[in-house]
Amino acid sequence: MAEIGAASQNKQDAAKIARLRRRFPTVALLRKRARMRVPRFAFDFVDGAANDEICRQRNADAFASVEILPHYCVETKGVSTEVELFGRKYAAPFGISPMGSGGLMWPKAEQMLAREAQRRNIPYILATPASASIEEIAKIAPDVFWFQLYRFADNDHAITYDLVRRAEEAGAQVLVPTIDSAGKSKRPRDIRWGVKVPFRIGPMVAAQIAAAPFWAMGFLKHGQPRTENLAKYIEGYATRDNTGELMRVNSTGSHTFDELARLRDRWKKPFVVKGVLHPADAERLVALGVDGLIVSNHGGRHFDGAPASLDILPAIVSAVGSRTTVMLDSGIRGGLDIVKALALGAKCTFAGRPYLYAVGALGEDGPRHIIDLFADELKIEFQHVGIRSVAEASNITVRQTRAWRV
Ligand SMILES: Cc1cc2nc3c(=O)[nH]c(=O)nc-3n(C[C@H](O)[C@H](O)[C@H](O)COP(=O)(O)O)c2cc1C
Repeated sequence: MAEIGAASQNKQDAAKIARLRRRFPTVALLRKRARMRVPRFAFDFVDGAANDEICRQRNADAFASVEILPHYCVETKGVSTEVELFGRKYAAPFGISPMGSGGLMWPKAEQMLAREAQRRNIPYILATPASASIEEIAKIAPDVFWFQLYRFADNDHAITYDLVRRAEEAGAQVLVPTIDSAGKSKRPRDIRWGVKVPFRIGPMVAAQIAAAPFWAMGFLKHGQPRTENLAKYIEGYATRDNTGELMRVNSTGSHTFDELARLRDRWKKPFVVKGVLHPADAERLVALGVDGLIVSNHGGRHFDGAPASLDILPAIVSAVGSRTTVMLDSGIRGGLDIVKALALGAKCTFAGRPYLYAVGALGEDGPRHIIDLFADELKIEFQHVGIRSVAEASNITVRQTRAWRV
């Protein structure tokens, strides 16, 4: 099993890694570089959020406002970032959140990220509307592949259940139904550029593509990214928009508690619900037998009125933390953010945009670089706060002034 901070294989590789570390030591710099290399509509699709993007900013503010009182005079040699989730050991308490249409940011983004997740032994969650299929990702990342599930209510949930069957047959380790997509999202940047999947090349978009030659070459070589998991279901829904139309017409609303109970019965492996914000919902989910929860506001992409997931985390941990595995995403941008989430009770964290920024900025080199960045920072921050393992994070003295009391 590869160590998370695995050293490079040869001299040439080592030189390249060192150069990338010097040039792109933060997620913010990767984002800046991706913005230059990727057509604006594709960058904005990933970077943007709902309405006025207040929730997205709230996630960043929440992390910035948390303080940690470090302990010194403790031996922190031999730090281990390993974490056990559902009976399996992963190399670090961070993983890759599900992201639909990742191929818009860079061709084969999902395949590249899944390959590196497998090599480094961190969880990789494939999105229902990803640009890669369940079957392909299961082959690339057999040990770390989790599958995110949206709701398709027509025909007594026929598509939902077929997706579950496929995930099961392919060997997905964990099923992750997402519940926070109750309504359509209004993302002004996408509206402005007319982004739909598959997208149509209008004059504005054509000019943006012309200004991004490397991206355009990849697009010509690999073709337009498709919503691979849904391709087989489009008959009956297909209009000009095919899978986009299927998502719009059939994929409506949040899985209800009854539906989740049915899915729970059907899926024998670990079952994790993503998008939990209300402690009362967390209680009901634990009562129906989930193995874990991801506290998330979808990176602010759906409901702009939601709290930062970090601000609601302690209330959820206090409600159900002793009975289920509580994890968190939305706003993680580095090792210190991961430590803050662990200190406030998360067992593991996930991030979305940082991984796609890395791929947009660096192509094939992106996944390794961003995992190096998170892993290196995490080890250093463990030392700064005086802990040697994920388990010890519960001893961290932390101050959070914005926490919700529900
Ligand atoms: C481009 C993009 C597409 C996404 N698609 C999905 C999706 O299909 N299913 C899902 O559950 N979450 C989706 N998300 C939300 C992420 O899983 C995650 O909750 C969010 O990105 C976390 O916030 P962060 O980007 O600040 O890390 C998407 C996020 C992005 C950026």
